Amino acid sequence: MKHILVVGGAGYIGSHMVWLLGQRGVRVTVLDNLSAGHADAVLHGELVVGDMADAALLDRLLAEGAFDAVMHFASCIQVGESVADPGKYYANNVSNTITLLNAMQRHGVRQFVFSSTAATFGEPQYTPIDERHPQQPINPYGRTKWMIEQALADYEQAYGFQSVCLRYFNAAGAHPDGLLGERHEPETHLIPLVLQAASGRRSHISVFGRDYDTPDGTCIRDYIHVMDLADAHWLALEYLAAGGRSTAFNLGNGDGYSVQQVIDVARQVTGRAIPVQEGPRRAGDPARLVADAARAREVLGWRPGRADLAQIVGDAWGWECTS
Ligand SMILES: NC(=O)c1ccc[n+]([C@@H]2O[C@H](COP(=O)([O-])OP(=O)(O)OC[C@H]3O[C@@H](n4cnc5c(N)ncnc54)[C@H](O)[C@@H]3O)[C@@H](O)[C@H]2O)c1
Repeated sequence: MKHILVVGGAGYIGSHMVWLLGQRGVRVTVLDNLSAGHADAVLHGELVVGDMADAALLDRLLAEGAFDAVMHFASCIQVGESVADPGKYYANNVSNTITLLNAMQRHGVRQFVFSSTAATFGEPQYTPIDERHPQQPINPYGRTKWMIEQALADYEQAYGFQSVCLRYFNAAGAHPDGLLGERHEPETHLIPLVLQAASGRRSHISVFGRDYDTPDGTCIRDYIHVMDLADAHWLALEYLAAGGRSTAFNLGNGDGYSVQQVIDVARQVTGRAIPVQEGPRRAGDPARLVADAARAREVLGWRPGRADLAQIVGDAWGWECTS
C-alpha cells in the first residue's frame, strides 16, 4: 500500500486510523470539511480541507493521487438528529457518498473501506449479532448506512468495486499515549459523557431507564477500543489488496457492559465521584446490543488487544485529562 485517501480523517475514528497508517509507513491524504473534525487531529499525511460533495475537488485529488484505496469515515453520526433532520443525513451520508464512489469509478480506484454501524441491524432479533442478522434499521442514520452497503453490492456487480463494510458497535477509548481522543460536539457517547461528569466538565451523567431486562436494569452495549478498530481497518486494507471480495464484518468485543457497569468502572479508574441523574427510557434504545465478531477474527485474523473495559475507560480518561 502506497497511498490511501482517508475521507473524514480529522474525526474521532479516522484520526486514529491516519495515525496508524503513519506508523505503517503509508502515505496518506485526508479529505475533511472540518464540520466535526479537527485539523490538529491529523498527525500524519496531508490534510485537504474540503467536502466530499465537491466532485471537482475529488476529481483533482483522485487524478493526482494514484490511490490504492479510499477509507470513508465521513458522515453525520447522531441518531436523534437524523430523526429530526433526515434531509441532512440522506444528503451527506447517501448522496455525498455516491458522489465519492462515482469519482472513484471515474478514476479507476475501486478499493473501499466503509464505516458502517450496528444501527443497520435495528431492533436485535437475537444477540450476539452476527453478519447474518437481518438489517432493518429503525432510524434514518441506520438507513443511510444500510443504503450505502446495498449500493456497494451493486458497484461490485457492475464496476468491480471491492469493498469492506465495517459495522462498529460502540467505538470508545483513545490513543494510549494521549495523542488523540474523542471530541464530538455535542458529545452523545456514554464513556466520554461519564468521564466529563468525573472531571467536573458536566454536572452529572443521565441514565435513561433502569427497568430493562438486564441484570442491573440498564442498557447493555459492546464497547470496542478505537485502536482495535484501526487495526481492523488495516487488516481490511490488506484483505482488499490481496484481492478479497466485497464483504462486511461486525466489529465489537462480544462482551456487553451495562451503563451502570461503565459508571462503576469509571469511578474505579478515575477515583472520582460521578453524580448520576435517573431518567426515563429513550425511544429506540434496545436493551442489549452485542456483536458477534467471529467472522472478522476468522477471515481478517483480527484480535482486539484492548478489550478490557478498564483499559478502554482508562485511555479515554487520559484523553479527558489532557483535553
Ligand atoms: N463513533 C462511533 O461509535 C461509531 C459507531 C458506528 C459507526 N460509526 C461511523 O464511523 C464514522 C466515523 O465516526 P466518528 O465517531 O469518527 O465521527 P466524527 O464526526 O468524529 O468524524 C467524521 C468526520 O467526517 C468529516 N465529514 C463529515 N461530512 C463530511 C463531508 N461531507 N466532507 C468531508 N468531511 C466530512 C467530519 O468533519 C469529521 O471529521 C462515521 O461514518 C460513523 O457513522 C461511528
